[in-house]
Amino acid sequence: MNPWNNVPAADYERHMSHETVGQLAELNEITREKVEQRYPQTVAVYGACTGNGLAHFVDARTVYAVDINPAYLAICHDRYDPILNELVLVQADINHDVVPIPADSVDLIICHLFLEYVDLERAFASFRQVLRPGGLLNIVLQRSNDTGWVSNTGVTTLRPVAAIAHEVPDETLRQHALPEFRFAGSQTYRMPNGKSLVSYDFINGEVAQSTSEESTDFEWPEW
Ligand SMILES: C[S@@+](CC[C@H](N)C(=O)[O-])C[C@H]1O[C@@H](n2cnc3c(N)ncnc32)[C@H](O)[C@@H]1O
Repeated sequence: MNPWNNVPAADYERHMSHETVGQLAELNEITREKVEQRYPQTVAVYGACTGNGLAHFVDARTVYAVDINPAYLAICHDRYDPILNELVLVQADINHDVVPIPADSVDLIICHLFLEYVDLERAFASFRQVLRPGGLLNIVLQRSNDTGWVSNTGVTTLRPVAAIAHEVPDETLRQHALPEFRFAGSQTYRMPNGKSLVSYDFINGEVAQSTSEESTDFEWPEW
């Protein structure tokens, strides 16, 4: 049994929104930026969880929400089906199942804090299958910076996921992306708990428009 199936949605959101973690808001903002860069018609969100960021896709034709946990997807449906044109829930274990999204159909893949828990080969095989030529793959990875994988927010139900978590080094990510996905830039966001989020853009089969790395480091405002 994958430990993500045992993490209650409310606990996940409480942990991720905790003032020392603050990741939900930052991930949501990254998604908004990608939508404004691309105005995608078809989007696939891998590790969609309870749908953080889906509200930005109101102008898209189709949004696929992929997750192993059916309870999370049910919440996605309740929250976002009423405001999206077409929300397709894909309950799948990326490590074992084929993700049934039509080949070469997706303009934007959002993959935030997902690769750390899954088989990289399987995940990239799925991205290659569904992302259209010229489409954008946005990946966000967590860097723990020696603070431990799961921050102490008082939420204990998340601790078991640390057992399957693995930090994905920059070089490993880029190797998996080659040869089709061309690196197109990255940005690091420093979080209040000492961790960082790194957002990477890859373009399917196109010469990268920009190869500038680490263009901006954001400092979280104090409150
Ligand atoms: C850290 S959460 C993702 C956070 C989310 N992207 C956000 O912006 O808030 C990881 C998600 O990946 C899902 N997941 C983990 N392993 C999976 C697998 N093997 N197949 C599909 N989904 C998986 C979990 O259920 C969980 O919703």
